[in-house]
Amino acid sequence: IPIPAVQQALLTWFDQSGRSLPWRAGAEGARDPYRVWVAEILLQQTQVARGLVYYERFLTAFPSVEALAEAPIDAVLKAWEGCGYYARARNLHRAAGVIVADGMPSTYAGWLALPGVGPYTAAAVSSLAFNEGRAVNDGNVRRVLARLYSERLPTEPWVQARADALLDPGRPGAFNEAVMDLGATICTPKAPRCEVCPLAAWCGARASGQPTAFPAPKVR
Ligand code: ADE
Repeated sequence: IPIPAVQQALLTWFDQSGRSLPWRAGAEGARDPYRVWVAEILLQQTQVARGLVYYERFLTAFPSVEALAEAPIDAVLKAWEGCGYYARARNLHRAAGVIVADGMPSTYAGWLALPGVGPYTAAAVSSLAFNEGRAVNDGNVRRVLARLYSERLPTEPWVQARADALLDPGRPGAFNEAVMDLGATICTPKAPRCEVCPLAAWCGARASGQPTAFPAPKVR
């Protein structure tokens, strides 16, 4: 698979057809890290469509990391009401205190050290807000790469290695969001829309005629 051609096709598609979402406002690689962080924490366990409502509500209540740090925890939990997994709200509040005391992290390692931030969120925030070359790795990424490379049994290390190799170092944040959007809107689990996929020309799963056979359903 010609990596530069795939990168270019995916980024061109993203520029034209990527989703327009509020936390995506601002120059690529220089977005407001607070907004990106709040969005990524929300999206850990909440779907984009539902997350939009909570995102606006939370940002209105706490427009800055200082406002969040200074708020009483009860007010933070109140703003989170209905969203579930309240540990996320508690961790946001705790991490806001750390950020106000120590400064906003600008690297993957710095983000990973904050409460509530795992490898996915650290990769997302450091790439989207700071242009760090870190590939995100979740179920969407796994499915997109398993199909592209027609790998029925992708292991975690395999997915990470493929994602790292494919990541466009010039636009890491856009590349990560392009894979997210492709997985959410075109390369979907059950009925992928291969006829409009920007990667169709190189996709092994599509060539097989059985795109949904990749990755193989998990054996339980
Ligand atoms: N899911 C997790 N992070 C996301 C983002 N930045 N955009 C869209 N969906 C996401």
